Amino acid sequence: EKVYVGVDLGGTTIKVGLCDINGKLLHTYEGPTGTEHGADVVLENIAQYVRKLVSDTSYDWEQVAGIGAGIAGFMDIPEGFIKLSPNLGWRNVPVKKILEQKLGKTVKIDNDANVAALGEAWSGAGAGIPNVVCYTLGTGVGGGIIIRGKIFQGFNGMAGELGHMILVPDLEAIQCGCGMKGCLETVSSATGIIRMGKEAVERGECTSLALVENIMAKDVFDAAKSGDEVAHRIINRAALYLGKSMAMVSVVLNPQRYIIGGGVSKAGDILFDAIRHHFHECAQQAASEGVDIVPATLGNDAGVVGAAGLNLHS
Ligand code: BGC
Ligand code: NA
Ligand code: ZN
Repeated sequence: EKVYVGVDLGGTTIKVGLCDINGKLLHTYEGPTGTEHGADVVLENIAQYVRKLVSDTSYDWEQVAGIGAGIAGFMDIPEGFIKLSPNLGWRNVPVKKILEQKLGKTVKIDNDANVAALGEAWSGAGAGIPNVVCYTLGTGVGGGIIIRGKIFQGFNGMAGELGHMILVPDLEAIQCGCGMKGCLETVSSATGIIRMGKEAVERGECTSLALVENIMAKDVFDAAKSGDEVAHRIINRAALYLGKSMAMVSVVLNPQRYIIGGGVSKAGDILFDAIRHHFHECAQQAASEGVDIVPATLGNDAGVVGAAGLNLHS
């Protein structure tokens, strides 16, 4: 029986998982990333966690038919490079080559959100639907495009960087970590929501957020749920740009379903209803009819499941 290993490389935690051929998660293990020690240490940690993962089960190393890894940042997938990862502080790291040397098996790498999208498409909210587009709302806004059950990578892996669609009008645009201004991510990520919350407090607006010591995205959602108008306006703005971006994606790709995951998606109806409203308001009707917007179902496991799937669905 063959098994597949998926690696989800996050800024603070590396999660690894073992899947069977149907995308069923058999076992997971996680440990600190060690970002502060640099790329060499992080890649060595990955190799150790993967070996530990497999040795903790009754499967043996020979049964591992493939290893995949999802990593946040801009990548050159064919070359197996991370070109730029602001979160990890990496530039031009040949991840694929180094991991293959350490593990003695073929390793596939892809963008973290592409991989989460594949996980959801394989055994989550997109199961059985050939064309879906996924957003992950966290520190950044990630995107993944699944066409006929496979990740669409584009020329070098930059396809699906939906968080860097430049949507905010110049006068309101702020700097994004990618170097551009006005990206979707500056508004609709947890970071963007937190920033808007703090700005409202600094401007002296009448909001219960003024009583919160260290505002998190969840505080903004909680305030909105209990009727805070300022918080409501912030959530609405985050949802507006997500809806607009989906309207654009719909006339380019016309996916049947949008799946939204990541920590922010736990906000539930208050967020989803607003996104649906703006999407249908902004979208060309012929491209949006019958299209739905649903929460991800694999939660934190989407990354490891999808990364394991890189070896079966690419
Ligand atoms: C990065 C993407 C990543 C996303 C979520 C963005 O800032 O550009 O590569 O998928 O954050 O981690
Ligand atoms: Na992506
Ligand atoms: Zn950007």
